[in-house]
Amino acid sequence: MQSSLHRPVVIGLTGGIGSGKSAVLKVLVALGAEGVDADRVAHEVMARGGPAYQPILSAFGRAIVTAEGQIDRPALARRVFADAVALRRLEAITHPAVAEVVRARVTASKAPVVVIEAIKLLEAGLSRALCDQVWVTVARPEQQMARLIAGRGMSPAEVERRVAAQMPPAEMTSRADRVLDTSGTLAETGLQVFKAWADLKLPFPPAEIRPATGEDAEGIAAVLNGIVREGGLTVVDRTYSVDEEKIFLNGLDPRASLTVATVAGHVIAFVEVDLYATYAGAMNHVGTMGTFVAAGLRGQGIGRLLAYANFASARAAGFLKIVINVRADNSGAQHFYAALGFQPCGRLVRQAFVDGHYVDELLYELFL
Ligand SMILES: CC(C)(COP(=O)(O)OP(=O)(O)OC[C@H]1O[C@@H](n2cnc3c(N)ncnc32)[C@H](O)[C@@H]1OP(=O)(O)O)[C@@H](O)C(=O)NCCC(=O)NCCS
Repeated sequence: MQSSLHRPVVIGLTGGIGSGKSAVLKVLVALGAEGVDADRVAHEVMARGGPAYQPILSAFGRAIVTAEGQIDRPALARRVFADAVALRRLEAITHPAVAEVVRARVTASKAPVVVIEAIKLLEAGLSRALCDQVWVTVARPEQQMARLIAGRGMSPAEVERRVAAQMPPAEMTSRADRVLDTSGTLAETGLQVFKAWADLKLPFPPAEIRPATGEDAEGIAAVLNGIVREGGLTVVDRTYSVDEEKIFLNGLDPRASLTVATVAGHVIAFVEVDLYATYAGAMNHVGTMGTFVAAGLRGQGIGRLLAYANFASARAAGFLKIVINVRADNSGAQHFYAALGFQPCGRLVRQAFVDGHYVDELLYELFL
């Protein structure tokens, strides 16, 4: 890699067909990355006038050229997929030509991150030559099949043939710096990309704070489910489907308020204030609250911004104080609520049974 004043972080993105590469790329681009599609570059270098055009003609003869003088890619594919030696010969021509064009695009890029998307990234040697990081997408085989049938109109037999022609997923993942599992919702895939982006210490676009709508169900569920899976943070002890989250949102008390923080259109955090007790009108002025910020985006003031926005809505809805229960083993949340001005006011012993054991909960209160 050439050294220059601006040198983008280069991520090589690969994965089996239908494993979610383009979904991941879309999120990366929304965060400010520039995408380079190596398969498209391969087509460019083979086009008439491209650097691989003449060498391919010399190697394979005029039989693989169309009447218009372009390389007949289907004819070439038939030839090389039936003959491993011919395939190696073709790749010896195209891979270096693709690498050169990709390298030039990386050097010219002004973006903080360049993502090279290539189905044969690992096989083509692009990863070692060009990338700081290799990310591999994976999905369950039945999902890959369903995506390719529904999205690209392939037959099951065709999908199986294509999958068999690729490096086995286990081999790809063993060579990856990061594995992104796209078997969940798009919002869950998005949050994995956000976490990976944060781990590279890359800057995020600014967060937007706004009241949640029904459209946010998928994003809210993704944030909550991620925190449930982390373990040790909340007494919520199971994940929620998007439909369950929709039902929850629709069923909220009219005085409840739910505020989300979004970055590049993705929900990355939410806070909810709801009635503390529904069994007695005497406590109508008391709310309770939960704050959830996705991993990778904590410690940047988002929780505080969300909480303040939600305090305003809670006050407007007639709440005068907030009481919260925080797991006694969640010191981060205790520091957070103390920093917002909450006062500790008691301990509930063995209040929750989670992850196979009892935990105490600490009570905090804040007058709005
Ligand atoms: C707890 C949580 C909501 C805090 O949100 P956040 O965006 O990370 O917090 P902020 O960056 O806005 O921090 C606000 C203040 O809290 C403090 N704080 C936040 N997390 C802290 C931590 N883990 N340790 C020490 N202090 C912390 C910050 O230092 C800051 O104080 P300051 O302004 O005086 O410096 C977030 O970390 C989270 O979602 N955690 C996982 C889920 C969870 O535990 N939720 C609470 C369930 S009750």
